[in-house]
Amino acid sequence: MISTEKLIKKRILVIGSNGMLGQRLSGYFLNKEKVELLCASAEEESFIESVEYRQLDIRDKKQVKKIVREFYPDFIINTAAYTNVDGCESNKELAWVVNVTGPENLAFYAHALDSHLIHISSDYIFDGENGPYTENDVPNPISYYGRTKLASENVIKGSRCKFTIIRTNVLYGPAKFGRPDFVKWVVNSLRNNEVIRIVTDQINNPTYLDDLVFGIAKIIELKKEGIYNLAGKELLSRFEFTEKIADYFNLNHNLIKPITTRELNQPAKRPLKSGLVILKAQTELNYKPHSLEETFRLMKKELNL
Ligand SMILES: NC(=O)c1ccc[n+]([C@@H]2O[C@H](COP(=O)([O-])OP(=O)(O)OC[C@H]3O[C@@H](n4cnc5c(N)ncnc54)[C@H](OP(=O)(O)O)[C@@H]3O)[C@@H](O)[C@H]2O)c1
Repeated sequence: MISTEKLIKKRILVIGSNGMLGQRLSGYFLNKEKVELLCASAEEESFIESVEYRQLDIRDKKQVKKIVREFYPDFIINTAAYTNVDGCESNKELAWVVNVTGPENLAFYAHALDSHLIHISSDYIFDGENGPYTENDVPNPISYYGRTKLASENVIKGSRCKFTIIRTNVLYGPAKFGRPDFVKWVVNSLRNNEVIRIVTDQINNPTYLDDLVFGIAKIIELKKEGIYNLAGKELLSRFEFTEKIADYFNLNHNLIKPITTRELNQPAKRPLKSGLVILKAQTELNYKPHSLEETFRLMKKELNL
């Protein structure tokens, strides 16, 4: 039997909770008084301590049904995805089933139980010919990853569940577990005197994880539905981003070598002139992302960088 106290609380299910974004979201909601949190991800154990955790494979409809029916969430936040952009080109079946069938399963049970599904999508649904993009621009993915992310949006829209699709780009921030984010990688490489080759022709507005977490919390608080871009405040090339990291952490600029995306010759094509216009979020959610420098200061403090 569910106690009255539990009924007053918002029940939030974070999926992909061991991932870069998932762990920050879980950490944020863990300490909120009026939230009953359940975390779920692919691994047997939670990377974050003291959270209620279940192992879940979103590809499996029965597992999704079980967790959703047992927890009865008000909100399901899906951060789980197959996020290796080049890997998606060679593992197309896996990419589709994780990135499309998974969200389809979540949307099915969100609709059945009247839960609100918040799903994370990407600027990779666009071709990068004419960014930055608003929520209303027409998608045209140029990689298999981008196609799966667009298809995930479409299955959710078609499911009749309450939903919010959040599009974001280039996540970075103080996630402690898993692969290092771009900032940590640049700092570590330059401190080790390694030469790094960075593209000059990919433009984005990198997104600080905790700004994204704030935006998601606002969407929950205000029960906003539809599509929202949540990204950073500064639009710049990856090369300029790297230079700013080197400036802030006082690292050797000579180790940063410019390269073009074409020269890198990666399996998946990348949108070049990309990035996301955040005016809607600023206006409707009072979304105020930190400046790059402020985020570096926060990361330095929290990670001892
Ligand atoms: N990172 C970026 O720059 C970026 C940019 C734009 C959009 N996004 C989107 O933002 C979201 C979060 O990205 P992220 O960087 O935090 O991703 P991430 O670090 O790769 O985390 C994804 C998490 O989902 C888990 N997962 C994978 N397959 C699963 C499955 N079948 N069932 C349950 N869990 C599964 C992963 O576990 P394993 O690690 O064990 O596979 C991992 O813990 C994704 O939707 C991504 O497409 C990310």
